[in-house]
Amino acid sequence: MKNSKTQVAIIGAGPAGLLLSHLLHLAGIDSVVLESRSREEIESTIRAGVLEQGTVDLLTQSGVGERMKREGFVHHGIYLRFNGHSHRIPLSELSGGRSIMVYAQHEVIKDLVKARLDAGGKIVFGVRDVRLEGLDSDSPRIHFNQDFLSCDFVAGCDGFHGISRPTIPAASRTDFKRNYPFGWFGILVEAPPATDELIYAHHERGFALVSTRSPTIQRLYFQCDPKDDVNNWPDSRIWEELHARLAGPDGWKITEGRIFQKGIIAMRSFVTEPMRYGRLFLAGDAAHIVPPTGAKGLNLAVNDVRVLSQALVSFYEKKSEDGLKDYSTTALKRVWRAEYFSWWMTSMLHRFPDDSPFQHRIQLAELDYIVHSRAKAVTLAENYTG
Ligand code: FAD
Ligand code: PHB
Repeated sequence: MKNSKTQVAIIGAGPAGLLLSHLLHLAGIDSVVLESRSREEIESTIRAGVLEQGTVDLLTQSGVGERMKREGFVHHGIYLRFNGHSHRIPLSELSGGRSIMVYAQHEVIKDLVKARLDAGGKIVFGVRDVRLEGLDSDSPRIHFNQDFLSCDFVAGCDGFHGISRPTIPAASRTDFKRNYPFGWFGILVEAPPATDELIYAHHERGFALVSTRSPTIQRLYFQCDPKDDVNNWPDSRIWEELHARLAGPDGWKITEGRIFQKGIIAMRSFVTEPMRYGRLFLAGDAAHIVPPTGAKGLNLAVNDVRVLSQALVSFYEKKSEDGLKDYSTTALKRVWRAEYFSWWMTSMLHRFPDDSPFQHRIQLAELDYIVHSRAKAVTLAENYTG
């Protein structure tokens, strides 16, 4: 594709970029997605697992929800586990019937890539040296490989480590950030589910999370040192740690199995404002990061591109720039709500290195308050289901 032109150039084929391309296509707007990794790589990277009701609805309405409906798992509650006992938070009952869907992010990616390619959409994989030019003009250019692409708008959907955000001059944006002094050790295990719903566990040794992927594959996480190395964790040590954090007088136990994937992820909160610079619009992790405790990252990316696609449709169909002008303000409202929720869940459930016994008791008091106060549980349910 030598020196071509499109309406919207999209950097990054994550959930944000692919869904934006799909939504624009449904409205008759042309786009090209430029992705630095290969198709195999993006379709096999293990990340999120929980989709909010609004995300499920949008994927379904836009015609890419069929396999998710068939293979995903609808959950109506989660458990908070502390002092060795699990307490169910009935999300649906507390949120007017809303629920969540457990369906892996890389499956969403596969569905979106297939939908784009089946419809003749353009995704260029393995691009190198992406550079944005002319963002303050009406016809920006994206340089990549030995090629360039001209467009009306650029969507920066290239994640936290992408080039879109750093292209915005420092004087034209404000970054807000918080790093957490711990990471998550995540594993995939061949085993049957040990629980019918996700378990968020508070323990003096640190946080643990029991999630799932399918009737035969489970996803487990535990809080760790962010600078730790997976090689320090033979399987036996991982199980020992998980048993220690999840055991309790109620006798519930995690089911062991073959561990076939291990990884450590950093935890941070980050927002850049505004999410626009000239003709560049940031969406998803390119603009904001949340710690995964609230399961919000992918869902925020989806919300951003819902708002952005509507703004672009209104520009092309009605010649109105109002939606584009409002994009950042509208998206950031939702972003900050999720930032708050994710920070709150993280603070309540993790052990901080300088925690005193007093703070530990305060965390337990808050957890106890949630499971005994409908008002407090409603707050959790409304935010968790979106
Ligand atoms: P990404 O998925 O990061 O996609 C960006 C894409 O851009 C990538 O494919 C990348 O290769 C590409 N790219 C980067 N640089 C360039 C470049 N220069 N040129 C071209 N392409 C480039 N969220 C939830 O909602 N629920 C969960 O349960 C949840 N659990 C999580 C668990 C873990 C372990 C992790 C790590 C994250 C989790 N998240 C969760 C967060 C979620 O995975 C992210 O928020 C989501 O991937 C953001 O999507 P995105 O499209 O904005 O960015
Ligand atoms: C996951 O299944 O990967 C998952 C679930 C819930 C979270 C984060 C990740 O809060």
